Amino acid sequence: MSRNVVMGVTGGIACYKAADVVSRLKKEGIEVDVIMTQNACHFVDPLTFRTLSKNPVVTDTFATPEAWKVGHVALAEKADVMLIAPATANVIGKVASGIADDMLTTTIMASRAKIVFAPAMNVNMYENPIVQENIERLKARGYYFIEPGSGLLACGYEGKGRMAEPPEIVNYVHRLLSEDTEAAPASAKVRDLEGKRFLVTAGPTAEKIDPVRYISNRSSGKMGFAVAEAAFSRGAEVTLVTGPVKLSCSPGIRRIDVSTTREMLQACEEVFPDVDAVVKAAAPADFYVVNSCEHKIKKKSDTITLELAQNPDILKTLGSRKKDQILVGFAAETRNLEAYAEKKIADKNLDMIVANDVSAPGAGFDIDTNIFTIITADGEKTAYEKMTKAEGAGIILDRIGEMMRKR
Ligand code: PMT
Repeated sequence: MSRNVVMGVTGGIACYKAADVVSRLKKEGIEVDVIMTQNACHFVDPLTFRTLSKNPVVTDTFATPEAWKVGHVALAEKADVMLIAPATANVIGKVASGIADDMLTTTIMASRAKIVFAPAMNVNMYENPIVQENIERLKARGYYFIEPGSGLLACGYEGKGRMAEPPEIVNYVHRLLSEDTEAAPASAKVRDLEGKRFLVTAGPTAEKIDPVRYISNRSSGKMGFAVAEAAFSRGAEVTLVTGPVKLSCSPGIRRIDVSTTREMLQACEEVFPDVDAVVKAAAPADFYVVNSCEHKIKKKSDTITLELAQNPDILKTLGSRKKDQILVGFAAETRNLEAYAEKKIADKNLDMIVANDVSAPGAGFDIDTNIFTIITADGEKTAYEKMTKAEGAGIILDRIGEMMRKR
């Protein structure tokens, strides 16, 4: 399947985040062509985008020979999705008014691809009725918009106007790329989880041995964060309870950071009664150190003995309290994948389990891809080929969405 994103970069300080978007799309195996407006070139040099996208960058000057080779019609036809990020009030206004006076707006006008804007501007500009009217006009014509976030803006103002975070943008684009091409623009599928509340867990937990040592595992949080971002970009209200990881998430996601399995349990217990679905992608430590030390353990003898006691099973605890929530667990196995996963469905009162063989190349801990089989409580099994964790998250949410619609 062709997966090409033509990215329009317009002039705003959020251009630096656009570079991260290109880098993330490329890591997902998506081909990216970048068109920069003249104003964008004041913020970031085209060389940055050329290096990240590994393609010539088209600028409005028409000065580079490459620009002629990939004229506006060629790129307009090549695009599966056109992403304008950051999208200024100016470009939104031009497109809404049918103006095509530079390479970017000409390409937008000539394209039949799905077109998505990620606005970024000063709060007063964003709230200006003219800008809002333009956005509504474009939405009515099937253009997509990724809502900006709120917070301190580069101009010093506080409010809405900050471009959505790169993971959210990439997830949104991903959803558009994986949708059926016949799907109606702005269809319910993209925001099909609107009004639903999700609890997602991610990452490892760390159990203290002494102030400088701990017991943990190789979970990076990538799988759980991918689920949280995908649910958020599909309109859900998401609480992400995460162990210690190096990842950031979209500002709209409610993030609770924890260290230990017992802390993760406490956070999940608080959120659980108010959610519609739980996805437990975390890898909590099964044991904690009973005799952990307040001070660093000194090397006085050749051996030391750690006394380990079992941690609570978070998923099992939630399963025993389940009312009408959809409870989805993961099974990280290295053998007897399906048998062990099926046992977990029964033991933990799950609706569905995502079983991954964490010893298989391309699956499991601390990589960008996964391979899994989804098994439902009704015994339905579907095995999926290797895919990115973002794609996997989309599949898991599709399956949860189906369950929600049947209830
Ligand atoms: O984070 P990444 O690097 O992206 O890696 C992804 C992953 C391999 C961690 C993920 O795909 C995965 O398999 N997560 C589950 C890891 C795990 O703990 O599996 P398990 O089979 O030991 O546990 C089964 C289920 O019970 C899991 O949903 C787990 O979150 C949950 N559990 C486990 C122990 C515990 N004390 N409480 C729990 O709730």
